[in-house]
Amino acid sequence: MAVASSKAVVLGGKNGLLGCALVQALREKGWEVTPLSRVDLDYYSGGFADDLAALLDTLEPGCLFNAVAYTDVEKAESNEEEAMLLNRRLPAVLGRVVKDRPVRFVHYSTDFVFDGRKKTPYTTDDAPAPLSVYGRSKYEGEQAVLALGLPDSLLIRTAWLFGRSKNNFVTKILDICREQRETSVVGDQTGSPTYAVDLARHSLELVDIDARGLFHIVNSGQANWAELAAEAVRCLQLECMINPISHADYPSKVARPAYSVLDAAGFTRVTSTKPRPWPQALREYLLQAFPMED
Ligand SMILES: NC(=O)c1ccc[n+]([C@@H]2O[C@H](COP(=O)([O-])OP(=O)(O)OC[C@H]3O[C@@H](n4cnc5c(N)ncnc54)[C@H](OP(=O)(O)O)[C@@H]3O)[C@@H](O)[C@H]2O)c1
Repeated sequence: MAVASSKAVVLGGKNGLLGCALVQALREKGWEVTPLSRVDLDYYSGGFADDLAALLDTLEPGCLFNAVAYTDVEKAESNEEEAMLLNRRLPAVLGRVVKDRPVRFVHYSTDFVFDGRKKTPYTTDDAPAPLSVYGRSKYEGEQAVLALGLPDSLLIRTAWLFGRSKNNFVTKILDICREQRETSVVGDQTGSPTYAVDLARHSLELVDIDARGLFHIVNSGQANWAELAAEAVRCLQLECMINPISHADYPSKVARPAYSVLDAAGFTRVTSTKPRPWPQALREYLLQAFPMED
């Protein structure tokens, strides 16, 4: 079913890394967007479903994007209840609310649903086996949405996001590298660095063609954390040495996949678009975000 109107509601669209990119991409394409945050809707309250239903009935959007998630992988280990609430229960409630309405639901998940034992990129046919509370909560969120059998929903897995937000690896590493002449970064975990702006635009390509089901969207190529950090430092010509270390030497209580590169071939098949290589996207982001440092 084509989307009923070019109005969209974006949960997490006021502050989130992906949420803000979605709002921008939608507006670029002429959509009327209502970005929401936790200040507008209390995801934890018993009346949340009714509040959301009333909002959707007033705004009559064609699409509801869920860019809200508990994304702090470390804290999720000790805060499982809240992680499950945002990553499993919230998407299930959103799905139930849109089920009887002409609203397409677009939900996001993560490469951390996989255990990282593969040596080749994960396809949408590969079986998830999450290693962490975060990964499990996101996987259970996927399952909850799929169980509703929504005919028009889109479930998009992505990975290693960077963009305009304090809350991402690239921004954090650059902050460190402005203060220090060297730093250690994990070099034995490999994934798919992805620009939130590219993810948002590619998501809208799927909406445009009425695609439905599960897709992976990531920038092309792969990197380990140290390689991503080194590329960011190189782009901004900072004088900071990146020393690759083993994950075993990094203080973390979370098991992360050693390899979680996502295969976006399914996305390319239906849209004929191949996402650009991550270093190209990273350079564009950094040069726009930090023009004085060029
Ligand atoms: N970041 C990554 O590297 C990455 C990798 C793979 C997949 N993903 C997936 O991509 C999607 C978007 O991720 P993102 O990085 O854009 O997320 P984010 O910026 O970390 O968070 C998105 C929004 O979630 C809301 N939120 C977070 N914690 C909350 C809490 N405890 N209570 C209430 N609201 C809370 C906040 O909304 P408000 O402050 O606006 O209320 C926040 O802006 C998620 O589904 C995530 O699992 C992300």
